[in-house]
Amino acid sequence: MKNVTVISHPLVQHNLTRLRDQRTEPQEFRRLLGEIASLMIYEATRTFGFKKTTVHTPLALAPGWKLEREVALVPILRAGLGMHDAILRLIPHARVGFIGLKREETTLRAMFYHQSFPKNLERFEVLLIDPMLATGGSTVAALNLLKEQGAKHIRVVNVVAAPEGICEVQKHHPRIPIFTAAVDRKLNDRGFILPGLGDAGDRLFGT
Ligand code: PRP
Repeated sequence: MKNVTVISHPLVQHNLTRLRDQRTEPQEFRRLLGEIASLMIYEATRTFGFKKTTVHTPLALAPGWKLEREVALVPILRAGLGMHDAILRLIPHARVGFIGLKREETTLRAMFYHQSFPKNLERFEVLLIDPMLATGGSTVAALNLLKEQGAKHIRVVNVVAAPEGICEVQKHHPRIPIFTAAVDRKLNDRGFILPGLGDAGDRLFGT
């Protein structure tokens, strides 16, 4: 699939399997999701633009590199919060925006309840983070909003994606790269990913 990178690193896949396990309790689920997010972020940021610079070491001038753009993390609430702390530890200078979206249970339509972003979003590399890409409704709505706010360089970071959700995102936003640890089989008739890992928000927060 074009623009979709499946991160097959053994540590990611090992942790993902434990994340899927129904016996994994919220405390462990949070830890595993954070570890997966940290490992995935190396791959998801590999093609960030950077430019040449120089730096004075105590002895001489050294060539170096700096990121071309600032970085903004935008977790989709609630489940995206399970990835955001771990990523922020690796990119501590990142700004953080939030998108509150809830999938309405019968229609599966994504409804906004919160949004906040750093100013001048066009200057940022934006990482839109959500462990689950199911029907794609939430991600498409979030991408529409980010683009309305001026974002120009966006990438999506998921842990488990359904083929249906990937198609939906690509239909509306064909140039946005998606990074995921797995592309699962399909959605069930309630819009849950099979085999998936259940409801990430509920498992994270024990609700
Ligand atoms: C879940 C999940 C994604 C979304 C995916 O969130 O965390 O955000 O659904 O579904 P979609 O691709 O079909 O839109 P939910 O709306 O249940 O909210 P929560 O994170 O607060 O549990």
